Order: sequence, then structure tokens, then C-alpha cells
Amino acid sequence: MTQPALPHLVVFTGSGISAESGIKTFRASDGLWENHPVEEVATPSGWRRDPERVLDFYNLRREQIRKAKPGAAHKALADLEQAGFKVSIITQNIDDLHERAGSRHVLHLHGEILKARSTVDGRMRYPLPKGGIAMGDICDKGSQLRPDVVWFGESVPLFPEACDIVSEADLLLVVGTSLAVMPAASLLTHVDDDTPCVVIDPNADELSPPGVLALNTTAGEGVPALVKQWKQQGRLWLPEGEMASVGPLRSR
Ligand code: APR
Repeated sequence: MTQPALPHLVVFTGSGISAESGIKTFRASDGLWENHPVEEVATPSGWRRDPERVLDFYNLRREQIRKAKPGAAHKALADLEQAGFKVSIITQNIDDLHERAGSRHVLHLHGEILKARSTVDGRMRYPLPKGGIAMGDICDKGSQLRPDVVWFGESVPLFPEACDIVSEADLLLVVGTSLAVMPAASLLTHVDDDTPCVVIDPNADELSPPGVLALNTTAGEGVPALVKQWKQQGRLWLPEGEMASVGPLRSR
């Protein structure tokens, strides 16, 4: 006899889930990222203008991230996977807090700060377990290394894979993202018509599209509470009244 398939939770996370670990959200700081104009440090033109500044910026961010610890929401998602649920995480975050919490299926839509990559061949990646990237650090083809992150104005190579994962979800849980950055935010339109979608964010009501269950709470409060219920019930359950308000997204 074949076993029933385990419920598949797909989680789409943004910087709000890491805010509780001390890593600042981007839009919380008025268009500045840790006091730097975003166009200077997170765009191809900023890199062309002053690569050293960009490297220094990411070297500091990397140190900050290495010191940060996974929060209650990261841990709860890893716990759910441990309990036997299939949990796929698609994150816009460049930190490794999901992995350090124990999640095993994490897709980094906007890259990973703890990796460097070649500036002539994007497939050439190098882990950075310690230290940062300096001018003169080169790939095996002899070109300067850059952070393995997707900058504004660059394509998002993992987006098609992320869409496929979302289309297989039994429930889509969106946590801590303003849903303002494309194409990432359009992932929500790739869920199946009958797949419920829940948004956890202190501003969930304002930023959620229609048809979504919006929970105005923090990641650290909201995610562990849902995970606790799901583990107790052995399924991706939502309170019935709230479930009724969740509908198809694609047709809207
Ligand atoms: N718990 C949950 N959500 C929170 C919390 C918290 N404790 N604190 C803040 N938030 C929410 C905010 O309400 C906001 O909706 O996190 C969201 C952060 O939004 P943004 O700063 O826009 O970050 P994000 O959506 O991840 O940005 C997407 O833009 O900065 C670029 O490339 C970068 O991947 C990033 C992308």
C-alpha cells in the first residue's frame, strides 16, 4: 500500500523574518541600506563605479550575518520539517539563517552573501566560510570575484524554479516581505487555484492581495503558533472561518 503524500508547505520569506535576528529590513531604513544608498551598493552600475565600496559593504554585512542567530520563526519551520512535513523555503534573504536553523530545502532567489562568484562566469561560485572578498581576489578564469547576490536591475535566474515549487504547494506561507520587489512578489500568482495562501507580517492587511489570509503579526509570534497547530493536527490546517476567506489568487 502506498503512503499518503506528506503535506507540502512552501514558505516564501523576506527580510522581516531575519529582522528579529538583528538584520535590518531594507525598506525600514528609508531607501538606505545600513546608511548606504541602494543604487551605490546593490546595482551593476554601483559596482562598475566603485567595486571596492561594494565589496566593503558586503564584507561588513557578511560579518553581521555570521554573528546573527536564527529566530523563533526560522526554528519553527525547521521543526516542522523535522516532524515529517515537506517544507520548501524560497527566500529573498541573502543570509543563511534558514539553513542554520536546520531547514534543508532552501532556494535563495536573490543569492547568498556567504558565497562569491566570478564576474565572467556566473556558474563559478566559491563558498566564503571565513573572511570576505578583496579587490584582486579572482576566479579560476582570472576575473575579479563579486558577492553571489542578485542586484537591482539583474535577472533572477532561480525564478522559474521557484515558480515550479510554488505551483506544487499544498499551502503557501508568506512571511516578512513587503511584496514590493519584482519578479519575486509575483510568485504568489503561481499557486494553484485551490491552494490557500497565508501572509504573516505586521502589515499583512495592507500588503496582501485579495484572496489571502492576512495575519497581522510578527514572524516570531505567528509562525511558531501555526507550526504548533500543524504539528498537533498532522496536517496544514487553518481555522475553518479563516480558511473560508482564502481563495484562488490566479484569477484575480
Ligand atoms: N516579522 C515579520 N515581518 C516583519 C517584521 C517581523 N518581526 N518586521 C518587519 N517585517 C516586515 C515589514 O512589515 C515589511 O513588510 O518585513 C517586510 C520587509 O519588507 P522589505 O524591507 O521590503 O524587504 P523584502 O520584502 O524582503 O525585500 C525584498 O528587496 O531589499 C531588496 O533584494 C532585497 O530581497 C530583498 C527584496
